[in-house]
Amino acid sequence: MSSMFLIILSCMLLLSNSGRTTTGAELGDTLGKGRNITDGERLVSAGGSFTLGFFSPASSSSSSTSRRYLGIWFSVSDDVVCWVANRDRPLTDTSGVLVITDAGSLLLLDGSGHVVWSSNTTTGGGASMAAQLLESGNLVVSDRGNGGAGAVVVWQSFDHPCDTLLPGMKIGKNLWTGAEWYLSSWRSSGDPSPGNYRYRTDTKGMPENVLWDGDGEVYRTGPWNGLWFSGIPEMGTYSDMFSYQLTVSPGEITFGYSANAGAPFSRLVVTGVGEVQRLVWEPSSRAWKNFFQGPRDLCDDYGKCGAFGLCDAGAASTSFCSCVEGFTPASPSPWKKMRDTSAGCRRDAALGCATDGFLAVRGVKLPDAHNATVDKRVTVEECRARCLANCSCVAYAPADIGGGGGGGAGSGCIIWADDLVDLRYVDGGQDLYVRLAKSELGKDGIRQRRPPAAVVIGASIASVVGVLLIILLVLLYVIRRRQRPRVSDDDAGVPAATAAVHARPNPALAAPSINLSSVKEATGNFSESNIIGRGGFGIVYQGKLPSGRKVAVKRLTQSLVTDKRKEDFIREVEMMSNTRHAYLVELLCYCQEGGEMILVYEYMENMSLDLYIFGEDRRLRASLNWVQRLDIIRGIAIGVEYLHNVKVIHRDLKPSNILLDDNWRPKVADFGTAKLFINDQTDPTLVLSAGYIAPEYAAQGNLTLKCDVYSFGVVLLEIISGKRNRTLPTFLRHTWESWKQHEIEDILDLGLIKPEPDLLLGLDRCIQIGLLCVQQSPDDRPTMNQVVSMLTKYSSQIAMPKNPMINSRCEPSVSQVVSDTEPASHDRPGPSLN
Ligand SMILES: *[C@@H]1O[C@H](CO)[C@@H](O)[C@H](O)[C@H]1NC(C)=O
Ligand SMILES: *[C@@H]1O[C@H](CO)[C@@H](O)[C@H](O)[C@H]1NC(C)=O
Ligand SMILES: *[C@@H]1O[C@H](CO)[C@@H](O)[C@H](O)[C@H]1NC(C)=O
Ligand SMILES: *[C@@H]1O[C@H](CO)[C@@H](O)[C@H](O)[C@H]1NC(C)=O
Repeated sequence: MSSMFLIILSCMLLLSNSGRTTTGAELGDTLGKGRNITDGERLVSAGGSFTLGFFSPASSSSSSTSRRYLGIWFSVSDDVVCWVANRDRPLTDTSGVLVITDAGSLLLLDGSGHVVWSSNTTTGGGASMAAQLLESGNLVVSDRGNGGAGAVVVWQSFDHPCDTLLPGMKIGKNLWTGAEWYLSSWRSSGDPSPGNYRYRTDTKGMPENVLWDGDGEVYRTGPWNGLWFSGIPEMGTYSDMFSYQLTVSPGEITFGYSANAGAPFSRLVVTGVGEVQRLVWEPSSRAWKNFFQGPRDLCDDYGKCGAFGLCDAGAASTSFCSCVEGFTPASPSPWKKMRDTSAGCRRDAALGCATDGFLAVRGVKLPDAHNATVDKRVTVEECRARCLANCSCVAYAPADIGGGGGGGAGSGCIIWADDLVDLRYVDGGQDLYVRLAKSELGKDGIRQRRPPAAVVIGASIASVVGVLLIILLVLLYVIRRRQRPRVSDDDAGVPAATAAVHARPNPALAAPSINLSSVKEATGNFSESNIIGRGGFGIVYQGKLPSGRKVAVKRLTQSLVTDKRKEDFIREVEMMSNTRHAYLVELLCYCQEGGEMILVYEYMENMSLDLYIFGEDRRLRASLNWVQRLDIIRGIAIGVEYLHNVKVIHRDLKPSNILLDDNWRPKVADFGTAKLFINDQTDPTLVLSAGYIAPEYAAQGNLTLKCDVYSFGVVLLEIISGKRNRTLPTFLRHTWESWKQHEIEDILDLGLIKPEPDLLLGLDRCIQIGLLCVQQSPDDRPTMNQVVSMLTKYSSQIAMPKNPMINSRCEPSVSQVVSDTEPASHDRPGPSLN
């Protein structure tokens, strides 16, 4: 332990953090009577975690370096100041001094003895008042006369938060005094005076935390549901490190958290640009890791979709906003044309009160509950009855989901009586029951919101299709159509056997072209009812060729065709028509006529993989059982291995690019960005799908086959866990930690039934392979050939993965130390890969 500490220290020295110069004397952790702290002197908490002293903000401009503040910072990271005394009254030189009065007041004096800041302690006045900096980072003034134990605290810095919430602090209201604790941002990184952003606990209705910009509500966490805030289900994934406390008592309504034993340093901070971040210190990389950041996307903008609007961050094609079922946009024209959704949505059918029923909207951040009525003591059934009986109730939800998980029944009752505002989908979100007129509902009076399958598929297919269509158009324009017999080896006569398809492919393309009239016939003249997807680039229709074969037809929007997209399109057509494989989606034909660019694909009955593994509806998730998931992983691996064998880098592997046929066989799609490895390695166009991109590609643009291996690894782990790496900064870390500690079940998707013991072994092995694929260094990742062999031959050895999150800055010394001193990393055998 101590040797590790030494290493870390030496690592620190090597890195020579350029933080503030702390040359002055340390005065222990206590400021006693008759003593003082001058600029350059410091208090350091007993275990060394926190330091109190004078500082100038790290990134202040040169003119302000003379501004001095008294503050508390993390000793390991002295640029991170978590509390400032004289926030808005800086000292102008280094003559400041902190003294403690007989009454126990802390005074910050300037060079001429004026009080710049005072703790204003009014009670107290014991014989031996002293201020002590505790290991928690709390500066506490108490009378230490009677040995310290039981000493009455007369003042503490934790009661006067600045922009940072540390474990042990809380925000919210003291109901006795009416006082409020809240966080307020720094004005800028060089100016600790209070900025515009405040992070407060809304204590009315169902408590939740709200970020304010002046008087405007910017972002809500969603109401507390007993386990976490409704809009931040990932809080549950780091409950091994922290315990959250939402206290509702006659004395206070507050939110705080504490760190479990052994947890690293952490902090919740509201930044000067209006973000709330939860950061955790990772000693091995000596860096703060961002565990959560809110608002996380557009859908977190308060009230983005107006009253009764519903925001879906995955639905870029519909400008993110839709209406709750049973509602339509209140002003359709601005909604559609200008994407102005602020007017919200209007009820289609008037309520009949007693005859109404409820629509279940699954997987959401619950709407603003500031005006809601809460009763924790009733059951959800009673809640429903209560809502139905009161004609002003428009929606209800359980107040406490207890141990039941996101979709579980829970208990308690939240009742909304006015507009539902700020409703959005969120992975792992809760269920909300919205009152609708009987005519809008099925016979049983309760209806499920349709799973967003078609929409989501649409979005992913549409973007793919969009790109493809554009490429096709370009191709069509650029390439002269020549009559040539089609070289078709495996096709069951799809295009060739139908009169609709003309065998006149472009020499560059193995896929044949098809008449526009045939496409129109296949899709019912591009009938609205055949639309299965919409995207920024075009629309995807389902269609039927005269032979009876179902196809997916991607029609590019002509106005969006750019040179870049044309290139992508051509590339995809090339790639797809020349690479045929059971695990790759097949391009059947294309059409360029009358300015249209259209691609015709084999129809994939079950749409894309992300719908199931990230499905908000449990039944969607459960439709892929563990055996099917392992088969899908193997299929994807084989498909990508094939691509690599013919020297193609896919570059954009992700679940929305994996389509599933009617036998749930996976097929890799979207080759718009694929590259031929040998001849054009230097293309600088980066494809960045956050969450799937290999670190070396993101940082330096180094594109190799190993980039696909990394993306494949992420996809593999997502299939098994049902969680998104992109939205969960802790995803890889959590997976690694749990796997290392043999806690496989912590990784598995909870939506599925618990696997049998031997299946569990297979999943364990699979996760190990996934972890190998997401290693930081490309050299540590296996090739796809090796992956396929590991996945298909159970006798093959699998190497021991390293922590995929390890940051190489301090290596090798630190990683060396970690594995020497931490038994955990040795408790698995580590045979080498053969
Ligand atoms: C601070 O302490 C020093 C030494 O104990 C003393 O000389 C000085 O007067 C004190 N300053 C104040 C402002 O109390
Ligand atoms: C202390 O009291 C003074 C005068 O009432 C007030 O101006 C100042 O803001 C208070 N300081 C703190 C830290 O509360
Ligand atoms: C809550 O009620 C107040 C007063 O009627 C109203 O101004 C406010 O918009 C309501 N808030 C929500 C979220 O409905
Ligand atoms: C109906 O609900 C509203 C809002 O929750 C409440 O103010 C009102 O008292 C309720 N009416 C009855 C009869 O319970």
